[in-house]
Amino acid sequence: MTLLRIDSSIQGPASSSAALADLVLEEFLAARPDEQVVTRHLGADPLPSDAWANAIHGSFTPEDQRTPAQVEALALAASLAAELQAADAVVLALPLYNFGISQHVKTWIDLVLAGAGAGTPLLTGKPVVLLTTRGGSYAPGTPREGWDHNTDYLRRILVDVWQADLTVVEREFTLVGVNPALDDFIEPAAVMKKVAEEAAAEAGQVLAGGLSR
Ligand SMILES: Cc1cc2nc3c(=O)[nH]c(=O)nc-3n(C[C@H](O)[C@H](O)[C@H](O)COP(=O)(O)O)c2cc1C
Repeated sequence: MTLLRIDSSIQGPASSSAALADLVLEEFLAARPDEQVVTRHLGADPLPSDAWANAIHGSFTPEDQRTPAQVEALALAASLAAELQAADAVVLALPLYNFGISQHVKTWIDLVLAGAGAGTPLLTGKPVVLLTTRGGSYAPGTPREGWDHNTDYLRRILVDVWQADLTVVEREFTLVGVNPALDDFIEPAAVMKKVAEEAAAEAGQVLAGGLSR
């Protein structure tokens, strides 16, 4: 079987979403050391930002009239959709930036949708673990309740469009200890970190136990 891991942090080794994905993989590979893991890093190695428009316009253009850029973009879209569809399990580390998904993640989703067809359920019943992290808190009753336009959008795509069997692990307040304005939240942030780490490790164990060999 193949596990596809996709990261998207722009923060390199300081990434808290990658740290959670590492925990999932650690537990998964401890139980299944021989499984194949395919990785893609959308933050460190971004997809070209003009590829989606080229793929869309290419799909509207008769094959023999497509520009080289359109041909290339359509091939990229098809290969990204095929990569996702070929995975038996998927681990996604997709943090919140600027109150939404990052441009890198949006480009990936747009290209997969272009490559597969917008309504194609690429992940029917397949296990997907989404690790998502946020610098602040968007919990009910907080001033920024309703401002997280990352997590619900990802649920729409992963569950409603691609029909994945989704597990979400969230960690808030990752900027506590970094941004002094959040110093009042040191204790709850430490608890949230621990809870998220435990949930990520458990998700890795469940992933390993739930897949056929
Ligand atoms: C450019 C940028 C924009 C960010 N925007 C937000 C934001 O809108 N809301 C928030 O709560 N945190 C925001 N953060 C903080 C990140 O959500 C936080 O650092 C999170 O841990 C990122 O995951 P990562 O560590 O895997 O990169 C932002 C961080 C960066 C670098």
